[in-house]
Amino acid sequence: MTFDRKIKIAPSILSADFANFGAECQAIEAQGADWVHVDVMDGHFVPNITFGPATCAAIRPHIKGVMDVHLMIAPVDPYIGDFARAGADVITAHAEAGPHVHRTLQAIRSAGAKAGIALNPGTPAGAVAELLDMIDLVCVMTVNPGFGGQKFIDMTAKIHALRDMIGERPIHIEIDGGVDPVTAPLVAQAGADVLVAGSAVFKGGSVGQPEVYGTNIRAIRAAAEGLYA
Ligand code: DX5
Ligand code: ZN
Repeated sequence: MTFDRKIKIAPSILSADFANFGAECQAIEAQGADWVHVDVMDGHFVPNITFGPATCAAIRPHIKGVMDVHLMIAPVDPYIGDFARAGADVITAHAEAGPHVHRTLQAIRSAGAKAGIALNPGTPAGAVAELLDMIDLVCVMTVNPGFGGQKFIDMTAKIHALRDMIGERPIHIEIDGGVDPVTAPLVAQAGADVLVAGSAVFKGGSVGQPEVYGTNIRAIRAAAEGLYA
C-alpha cells in the first residue's frame, strides 16, 4: 500500500447484496472503487450485527486492491489476529471501544496491517494527539455508527483540526457516513482523502447493473475533486 493524499472512494459493502459479496466487490472495483470498506458490527459496541473474520477471509480473494476493515466491536484486541489473517490491509478500531487504544494500535501494526483509529461524532480530534506516530489512518465518523443510510453530521471543524495535527505525516483522513456528491466537497476541502460511501454508491445498481455503481462513484469523486479544479 503506497501513501498519497489523492481522493479515494471506498464503497461500504454494508449497502451491498449480502448474498453476493464476492461479485459485489468485483463489480465496485471494476467500476472505479479505490478501496473496499468492510463494516464489522457486533451488536454490543453498536446496535447492529454484520459479520466477522470468516466473511472477510471469504471475500478477500474477490478484492484486488485495499481491504479496509472497520471494526465496530468491543473488545477489539482478541480478534485483531483473526482479521489480519483474513487479509485486511487496514484495520480500524474505535477510540471509544476500550481503555487501551494505544495497545490496540500496537497490536494491529504487529499483526502486519495498517492501523486506523475511528472517532465517533462526540469524540474530539485531540483523542489522537498522543497516537500520531502509531496510526496510518484516522476515520472521522460523520454518523453515529451502526447503520448505513443515515444523515450526514457536519464534522468539518474536526477534520480541519486533524489535518493540522497530522502535518506531513503519512496518515489518511477517512470520512464515514452520509457521504454523497453534496457532502463530499465539504470533507475533501477540510482535508479528507478517503471517502467511504455505502448508499450513495450502491443506490440504483446491482451486480446485474454495475454501471450504476460506476456512475455513482464518478459523481462522488468529481464533486470531491471539483474543489481543486
Ligand atoms: C456506519 C458504517 C458506514 C456506513 C456508511 O456505521 O461504518 O461505513 O456503511 O453508509 P452510508 O454511506 O450509507 O452512510
Ligand atoms: Zn464504516
